[in-house]
Amino acid sequence: MDESKLNEITAMFEEKLSKAATVSDIETLKVDFLGKKGHVTSLFKEMGKVTAEDRPAFGEKINRVKEKVESGIKEFEKKISDKAVGEKINRVKEKVESGIKEFEKKISDKAVYEKINASYCDVTLPGKFHEIGHRHPISSTIAEIVEIFGRLGFSVSEGPDIETDYINFDALNMFDWHPARDMQDSFYAGPNAVLRTHTSGVQIRTMLKSEPPIKIVAPGRVYRLDEVDASHSPVFHQVEGLLVDKNTNFAAFKGIIASFCREFFGADRKVVFRPSYFPFTEPSAEVDVECISCKGRGCAICKNSGFLEVMGAGMVHPNVLKNGNIDPEIYRGFAFGMGVERIAMLRYAIRDIRDFYMNDLRVLAQFR
Ligand code: DAH
Repeated sequence: MDESKLNEITAMFEEKLSKAATVSDIETLKVDFLGKKGHVTSLFKEMGKVTAEDRPAFGEKINRVKEKVESGIKEFEKKISDKAVGEKINRVKEKVESGIKEFEKKISDKAVYEKINASYCDVTLPGKFHEIGHRHPISSTIAEIVEIFGRLGFSVSEGPDIETDYINFDALNMFDWHPARDMQDSFYAGPNAVLRTHTSGVQIRTMLKSEPPIKIVAPGRVYRLDEVDASHSPVFHQVEGLLVDKNTNFAAFKGIIASFCREFFGADRKVVFRPSYFPFTEPSAEVDVECISCKGRGCAICKNSGFLEVMGAGMVHPNVLKNGNIDPEIYRGFAFGMGVERIAMLRYAIRDIRDFYMNDLRVLAQFR
């Protein structure tokens, strides 16, 4: 019996151990080496062949092999069980983690749900209704006048509310002695500036900045030092009109004005041109329309005359054309001016001008 056998068995064990992977591999190893017929066990059986003298040393050598095998097996078993424990721990860890995750999800779901609940909106409920605004009757009257003249070929021109007294008065042939220039009648905004008392100044401004033929209407606010009563307001509106061309005449003027009046007041209304006086026109006229209310029979609105005065007008005075840098030997013009509140009152049978400014919806809502 030599030692090479011991080394062979040791080497064989180490090789097999290095390949072992499972618990059953190790059971096989145990049987193969430490079992009744195992390699280590059979070594002890060979003790008899060794001389009595060598026996203790040989026995010790076998024992060392046996220990090596046993400790190798033990180590492997420990490794295996460590791995199992590790896996177990991992499984617990995963369980804890997924539990926490689930809880967190539940919590956040709850928060979302609560948020939704707090802003709960019943889409089947009827909506909130807001009243839709509409044009003021003065604005819509101006718009309608401008629209009718637009169809007759007139465009819109505008001037400032604060006007020089030259343009508001002098250029319009209203001399120093004219009663409208009195401080009693006009709001002066400075030594040479007035709040315009009429829109007629826009005639001058338009002539100065454009070449004939001119065909404009000029809507705007005007100011007069009047006490407020049922038919007067210190602020009101006018629409001015001006036509300047080579061949225009009083007949053309009557045609334009009559067609506007029929369009605005009614197709079967009679229109009358009554001689009058304005410093800026010659000849001048006032235009009357058959009473809208009584259709000419006579009533309180027309003071039994059967007619309503709706505008002032006339052929533009040669001095006014000159002040607008237009040669009165070549060009002629006609002009007109109407009070918007006045004709709106006539048209809608409104008896008090203040109804336009008091913003009482019971009045204004009738004009939607
Ligand atoms: N400017 C006059 C007024 O305020 C109205 C008027 C009359 C305008 C005759 C005109 C016109 O253009 O030709 O009472």
